[in-house]
Amino acid sequence: MEPSSSTSLPVPVEILYRPYTNEDDDLPHIQRLVESELSEPYTIYTYRYFLHQWPHLAFLAYPSNGSPNEPIALIVCKQDLHRYKTNRGYIAMLSVSREWRKRRIASKLVDLALEAMKNDGAEQIVLETESDNDAALALYESLGFIREKRLYRFYLNGKDAYRLLLPLPPLSTNRSLPPAPAPAQPSTPLLVNNPNQTESNQDAVEAPKLPPRVPPRPDAEEVRGEEGVDGVEEEVRERLRL
Ligand SMILES: CC(C)(COP(=O)(O)OP(=O)(O)OC[C@H]1O[C@@H](n2cnc3c(N)ncnc32)[C@H](O)[C@@H]1OP(=O)(O)O)[C@@H](O)C(=O)NCCC(=O)NCCS
Repeated sequence: MEPSSSTSLPVPVEILYRPYTNEDDDLPHIQRLVESELSEPYTIYTYRYFLHQWPHLAFLAYPSNGSPNEPIALIVCKQDLHRYKTNRGYIAMLSVSREWRKRRIASKLVDLALEAMKNDGAEQIVLETESDNDAALALYESLGFIREKRLYRFYLNGKDAYRLLLPLPPLSTNRSLPPAPAPAQPSTPLLVNNPNQTESNQDAVEAPKLPPRVPPRPDAEEVRGEEGVDGVEEEVRERLRL
């Protein structure tokens, strides 16, 4: 039997990427996407710490059939001189809404952030992720990150972290950091990704594992304060005298 002439293929949904614009439009969505997926409880000051200083290192993704103001994924980063000598980029938050996973959206967001940090002279990129976050570990390792060290009981939930590191070839000898540019104007898509729509969201959902039952290490606080978003929380509290 001939197929009906009214049968039409679904129009593929493209993914559009844009820079962070401003707190009113973007911060509630960033908080929603991060708080639904990441275990650390961040205060508003942590988000502002990153977004006010490095707005040009935050990117959001949204589907072409949706609104730029309804993002489904985000990345938030910072970049500064580590120990006064290394121009270091840091990926603080990365989250993709569950129903949109496994379409290379996170890969594209990381690429965008890496490109921006390389343009500002980054010599290395670091981040921490929970030691049992298989999806994040596979994602970053597929992009060339290596496990630099394990941080014991790094997170408030008692889980260990891996510090992941991506060394970058030097682009120039100038290690000074340019001033952060103003946030971009709203909703200018940066690039388009045409995701493969065949994946269901189920395989992207990781079953949370129970934290290991290990006694707290005496130096656990010291390790937690070493760096990372936790370190940022401490810095923010210190600055605000909380
Ligand atoms: C981790 C996360 C950001 C990945 O987002 P994503 O858009 O689905 O990732 P991508 O489609 O770009 O995946 C790229 C690669 O990562 C790996 N990967 C992604 N999800 C995976 C999973 N569930 N299991 C194993 N590997 C996975 C694969 O190697 C994949 O390559 P492939 O598509 O060729 O197989 C997403 O699962 C998420 O938001 N998780 C919750 C928040 C989080 O853990 N953030 C990271 C904290 S550091």
